[in-house]
Amino acid sequence: MVGVYGIGGVGKTTLMKEVAKNMTKDGLFDQVVMVTVSQEPVLKKIQGEIGENLGLTLSEESLDVRARRLLERLKKEKRILIVLDDLWKPLNLPEELGIPCESSCNVVLATRQLQVCRQMGTQLNVELKVLSEGDAWILFKWAAGDCLVEDNDTLCEVANQVVRECGGLPLAIVTIGKALQTKDISVWKDAASQLKMSRSSSPEGCKE
Ligand SMILES: Nc1ncnc2c1ncn2[C@@H]1O[C@H](COP(=O)(O)OP(=O)(O)OP(=O)(O)O)[C@@H](O)[C@H]1O
Ligand SMILES: [Mg+2]
Repeated sequence: MVGVYGIGGVGKTTLMKEVAKNMTKDGLFDQVVMVTVSQEPVLKKIQGEIGENLGLTLSEESLDVRARRLLERLKKEKRILIVLDDLWKPLNLPEELGIPCESSCNVVLATRQLQVCRQMGTQLNVELKVLSEGDAWILFKWAAGDCLVEDNDTLCEVANQVVRECGGLPLAIVTIGKALQTKDISVWKDAASQLKMSRSSSPEGCKE
């Protein structure tokens, strides 16, 4: 079981989707099942989704019975990867969901808290960090689109300030880049100064 952790908006879900896509494409696993756990997990729904992906209909009402049926089924799978995204609290995977821990069932979980990985007993934890300045700039240019031409020095200077204020957080970079896409330079300047003010007024900066 592998844990991926990092602050909100850093790209855990985006990465999990890529992992799910590539692992199937590369043929490393026969099946990849990705489910969102969320802050208030609805166990029945999660069990149902996993079952559905395996062609198993869970019509029982009892969570325990559903978990046992799923467990039996997953134990027979040889090369399956289960991706549990957005975990907020530890779960007892075999008992609460029906995901076996001891067999060849591989699990990757994503959470904001390293503590959750530890409580889940992951064998390896990987921190997803904010983007480097270079990558942040590439993502911002993609989000802002064609308006951000490199030979417009004034706009690029303001854009650089905006990107710096985003602190390498993809969520901020993409949201702000897209919002500024069609706007006049005066709006860009306004955004840069507002971001600067909001950062200096918050002791934690962009952190949670
Ligand atoms: N590597 C990336 N390339 C392009 N865009 C990205 C990347 N990572 C994240 N994003 C963008 O940032 C947004 C937030 O990312 P994501 O939802 O994956 O964060 P998260 O870490 O799962 O956040 P949370 O803890 O709130 O679940 C996404 O909607 C996506 O647009
Ligand atoms: Mg997420």
